[in-house]
Amino acid sequence: REEDESNKGLRVYDPAFQNTAVCHSKITYINGDNGVLRYRGYPIEQLAEKSTYLEVAYLLIYGELPSKSQYSNFSHEVMHHTFVHFNVTELMRKFNYDAHPMGMFISGISALSTFHPDANPALAGSDLFKNDEKTRNKQIFRLLGKTPTLAAMAYRHRIGRRYNPPQNDLSYAENFLYMLDRLSEENYKPNPKLSKALDILFILHADHELNCSTAAMRHIGSSLVDPYSAVAGAAAALYGPLHGGANEAVLRMLEEIGSIDKVPLFLEQVKDRKRKLFGFGHRVYKNYDPRAKIIRKIAYEVFEVCGQEPLIDVAIELEKIALQDEYFVKRKLYPNVDFYSGLIYKAMGFPTDMFPVLFAIPRIAGWLAHWKESLEDKESKIWRPRQVYVGPSVRSYVPLELRD
Ligand code: CMC
Repeated sequence: REEDESNKGLRVYDPAFQNTAVCHSKITYINGDNGVLRYRGYPIEQLAEKSTYLEVAYLLIYGELPSKSQYSNFSHEVMHHTFVHFNVTELMRKFNYDAHPMGMFISGISALSTFHPDANPALAGSDLFKNDEKTRNKQIFRLLGKTPTLAAMAYRHRIGRRYNPPQNDLSYAENFLYMLDRLSEENYKPNPKLSKALDILFILHADHELNCSTAAMRHIGSSLVDPYSAVAGAAAALYGPLHGGANEAVLRMLEEIGSIDKVPLFLEQVKDRKRKLFGFGHRVYKNYDPRAKIIRKIAYEVFEVCGQEPLIDVAIELEKIALQDEYFVKRKLYPNVDFYSGLIYKAMGFPTDMFPVLFAIPRIAGWLAHWKESLEDKESKIWRPRQVYVGPSVRSYVPLELRD
């Protein structure tokens, strides 16, 4: 603790916000010691088994499970905001052929802010921007609707194919798979088992209280910038390998290890701090990540359709040895959500660099829920943390010609 120079109180040094609560929230509950995750009070296990991604998105954003008419209105609105402006399509076409899909995705989302005048609070008037529920809902529909389209464009661009327009009468996950894969045959529909698996993965990734990207969303949103810009910023935070980029890093790590006989040597390198075991460890979970348990089960369901992904054996061996090793036990390091998700995406045929995008699409519901909650919170203000200054004390400027 150190005294605030303006004498307003004590400032607490808390590097990386490890022990700072910055808001009240009713959205997501995590008990890290017991491996509990609930959205608005509902256990993640029940939602993954019984709900759908769009229903969960509604629950996160509006606080309650929707009635039948609320659900049908919400899904109609989201699925009828899936098309993007022609100039956004042109923008997506201009990236290099080997551009990372996450970079294209972030740029596409950011570009949306220039196509919707309501995005600019200075134009709309900040009160209107903050209080107009209709405008806010429209922004929610647009962001949920258009982001899978942008993601599919990034994917199609990456593989050198033309874009497929959205199909509004499909479900959220089905439409996404359709835009990625559409074959020339008439009435093409993605495999129902795969779209169901993807929908469950979307539910599991939809929110996780104040993780790095959601904190970024609240932070950026606290300036009252438009939600398209704030979501682009949150997506950029998610891109990093310690966060949503970890699923991509896990797969690259498993590919590098290659076979189960190489696992012990790799773990020795981790313990010598030469390597990081991606997909392990969590700031909050000090017990098994409940999402990882569900994902492990889905992996086998997907393998039944797509064939077993050979790297699963390496992942299982890594997990088995690590969970018995003192280094990991002492530090309470368990598999997290990213440990098995990449294997599912790979089995489904996604290129490795699409994995962070597949994490970002569903997290948009969580970001929007937190953005809406913070706008409605009477106590919310612009986020402005303080620092402990450790640089030089006052000194006099020396002109360039007098410096050595
Ligand atoms: N491999 C090896 N050692 C680790 C790992 C790991 N994956 N994670 C933590 N440790 C060690 C770390 O070196 C430290 O040891 P010591 O106390 O001896 O210095 C100790 O465990 C505590 O770790 P920390 O880095 O202080 O923990 P943190 O809360 O700051 O970081 C984390 C959390 C997720 C960034 C970290 O565990 C990590 O880098 N994991 C790998 C990346 C990853 O899988 N990220 C996805 C997170 S879950 C989904 C998401 O939010 O995106």
